[in-house]
Amino acid sequence: MAITEDLAIYCQRVEQQLTQRLSHSSIQDTLQQAMRYSIFNGGKRVRPALVYLVNQSLTGDLNNADAAACAIEAVHSYSLVHDDLPAMDDDDLRRGQPTCHIKFDHATAILAGDALQCIAFEWLCEQNNDLAAGRQLKMLKTLTTASGDAGMVAGQAFDLAHVDKPLNLAQLEAMHEHKTGALLSAAVELGILSANCEVTPEQHAAYTGYASAIGLAFQVQDDILDITSDTQTLGKPQGSDLSLNKPTYPALLGLDGAKDKLAQLYQQALQATEILGPKAQPLRELAQYIVERNH
Ligand code: IPE
Ligand code: IPE
Ligand code: MG
Ligand code: MG
Ligand code: MG
Repeated sequence: MAITEDLAIYCQRVEQQLTQRLSHSSIQDTLQQAMRYSIFNGGKRVRPALVYLVNQSLTGDLNNADAAACAIEAVHSYSLVHDDLPAMDDDDLRRGQPTCHIKFDHATAILAGDALQCIAFEWLCEQNNDLAAGRQLKMLKTLTTASGDAGMVAGQAFDLAHVDKPLNLAQLEAMHEHKTGALLSAAVELGILSANCEVTPEQHAAYTGYASAIGLAFQVQDDILDITSDTQTLGKPQGSDLSLNKPTYPALLGLDGAKDKLAQLYQQALQATEILGPKAQPLRELAQYIVERNH
């Protein structure tokens, strides 16, 4: 699949960009080490790739997408550092290595997460690109809104509040849309904004529809892999959701029901991009990658 080559190229690009941006020194070296440890530990870089792919589908300049790609990966990495803490999912393995609080300590993990979040927003304010200040402000608002209590953090809070509690399908969907879908939708929006062009309302609706479908699909597949994969392939503890009695799609619909839902979401993503023409083909392939990935 051509998308695996695109993913490899964009993964390399964002890692190089992150390296440049995280090379400054700090009065607290351990904090810096923990930040680098948490971001340079082999993530798939799906969110940055999405920013770049959407930018390219609108014939944008990749240089205008670099800060946004780095910023969204920093927010995502921070969310994982906090998600793994004992007060949340209490996991000891992430991306195949000890989680940040195991490698360092709890306070350092909390602070590294805090700092990764702040630095993301600092990067979005950089002036080393062609983007007008108003457009950059829209990018900042996109990422802050998706990250906070209208997005990812609300989803995480809802997740934790419903351990051992019954959840209906609408609640489960809302939880997944917030905790995972919001950042993936933000990646798509950042890709559009970084393309530095105007899109029609129809085009925008197509991108939004695509983003909602793959955002939900991403977490449905994550839930499925918690059951069907193994710890080595995942790089994080298989069965973590089951052992904590987490609200997940397979827990509510069964494994087959969750797989059916995933297939529906894939079709939804394809349909949404129809009006975007051939330039959106890599986005369709990314949707396929998201529903078929094994880690
Ligand atoms: C894991 O995200 C957490 C979820 C939102 C499901 P990823 O599967 O993108 O994790 P990395 O970045 O590749 O490690
Ligand atoms: C976490 O979901 C999503 C975040 C916002 C971090 P999970 O708790 O399912 O993610 P994993 O399985 O630990 O990667
Ligand atoms: Mg979690
Ligand atoms: Mg977790
Ligand atoms: Mg999970």
